[in-house]
Amino acid sequence: MSDPHLTVVDHPLVQHKLTLMRDKETSTAVFRQLLREISQLLAYEITRELEMTTKRIETPMQEMDAPTLAGRKLALISILRAGNGLLDGMLELIPSARVGFVGLYRDEETLEPVQYYFKVPDAMGDRLVIAVDPMLATGNSSVAAIDLLKEAGATNIRFLCLLAAPEGIARMKEAHPDVPIVTAAVDARLNEVGYIVPGLGDAGDRMFGTK
Ligand code: URA
Repeated sequence: MSDPHLTVVDHPLVQHKLTLMRDKETSTAVFRQLLREISQLLAYEITRELEMTTKRIETPMQEMDAPTLAGRKLALISILRAGNGLLDGMLELIPSARVGFVGLYRDEETLEPVQYYFKVPDAMGDRLVIAVDPMLATGNSSVAAIDLLKEAGATNIRFLCLLAAPEGIARMKEAHPDVPIVTAAVDARLNEVGYIVPGLGDAGDRMFGTK
């Protein structure tokens, strides 16, 4: 927790759920449910320092100045397609968030990201923007997504993932040192085809039941 750029959420519930998700015997339905649950715990952590203000309310007992979130609604940006798995759970916790999508696929030969969709809320410069993608692997698509969000005006961006490889963290740190990363775990390395090991396999395939 001492690196301001990287927060590893080592909460026992997060770690327990992550182990179940890594297990290759875990079914698609259970994987999806666990992802929903874990994303709420990660959302709790990444929103810990949201700006607050107070508003005057009346309880059944008396008036008080009660704490409430300040500023514009935050923007959750799903990096398609696997980002949607994190998005669903986060929206249960932050239902008034605005939502955007960045469509990037990874060219399996070059491992470089290719853009096919981009739609984000207005006033990106006035919002906390949380980009979500379960797997920070090479970092290529995350860096490209953050590039696009900055081009759209975002200045206050955080990145949320489930698993990160040291290579992806280094790449993000180099390209976007102003974007803090929150993850449930940092794994050992990438393999020769850019998958995180030990990892959990292809997050999109595991949540959608594709191969
Ligand atoms: N994307 C995945 O889904 N899994 C990995 O291990 C790397 C990238």
